[in-house]
Amino acid sequence: MKVTLIGTGRVAFHFGHALQRAGHTVEGIVGRNTAHTTTLAADLNVPAFTMNDPLPPCDVIMIAVSDDAISEVATKLPINDAVVIHTSGASELGRLEPHPHRAVLWPVMTLSPGAPADLREVPLVTDANTSHARDVVYALATSLSDMVRALVHEDRELVHAAAAISTNFPLHLLDRAQTLLSERGIDPGLILPSFMAMVEKAGSMGPHDALTGPARRGDLGTVRRHIDRLTHDPELRAAYALISSSILRAYGHPDHEQFDL
Ligand SMILES: NC(=O)c1ccc[n+]([C@@H]2O[C@H](COP(=O)([O-])OP(=O)(O)OC[C@H]3O[C@@H](n4cnc5c(N)ncnc54)[C@H](OP(=O)(O)O)[C@@H]3O)[C@@H](O)[C@H]2O)c1
Repeated sequence: MKVTLIGTGRVAFHFGHALQRAGHTVEGIVGRNTAHTTTLAADLNVPAFTMNDPLPPCDVIMIAVSDDAISEVATKLPINDAVVIHTSGASELGRLEPHPHRAVLWPVMTLSPGAPADLREVPLVTDANTSHARDVVYALATSLSDMVRALVHEDRELVHAAAAISTNFPLHLLDRAQTLLSERGIDPGLILPSFMAMVEKAGSMGPHDALTGPARRGDLGTVRRHIDRLTHDPELRAAYALISSSILRAYGHPDHEQFDL
């Protein structure tokens, strides 16, 4: 397919490379910042366009810009039969109005600067408003990834929330836990190997079986002592108590008293 890519950030970079690797033609990179646009266009060896340039004819216009800018960018585009796609898990198809053929192609993955990612193992979630847009986005998605799922907005929103819980929360908790150690002059690297092993085991055993620790065992004395150690950090203390209560219930210790915070 002939694809014009709008945006010069992380997703535009990874999709640009993945599209070319899959045999599609990237007709050009469109951006508001000249330096960013020419850098990505040179990297892909394709033309660079400003937001006001006339765009080449294409099958797909992929808008990979910040969520809040999707509508603004979409309304500036000429209206024709191209399928206009955004890449946001948290945004409705309606943000692509008034284009007749609208679609979503959301990579369920954190994409960062670095080497071009292999999208074959990255889940891609799709949605579309017409059968033409559905066919095009499905063909595009399956050419890039082995794991493609069609989901309506309400379900995408739930996947987005679930991804935030499962990906962002453990990292934030690791960050806060390492800070607890650093503040006492203890090497924060001490808890990193068990964090990495936990991720491995979640994949191989499933999270329910992989989880260990005092709350799973029902060791209420240890849980209470941990909570007491966190009096200087009420927010983390409350989070510890809340998540411990959830684990205690999930592993068959339902009758524990409320923790006294
Ligand atoms: N990164 C991820 O892990 C990830 C994963 C899945 C989905 N997504 C989605 O992919 C989309 C792009 O995310 P990203 O991570 O690639 O973001 P990013 O790296 O921060 O890049 C954002 C891009 O949007 C452009 N932009 C922002 N406001 C604009 C405006 N008003 N007009 C024109 N261009 C504008 C920026 O241009 P400048 O260079 O001029 O600032 C930049 O090229 C978002 O919808 C996001 O939700 C991201």
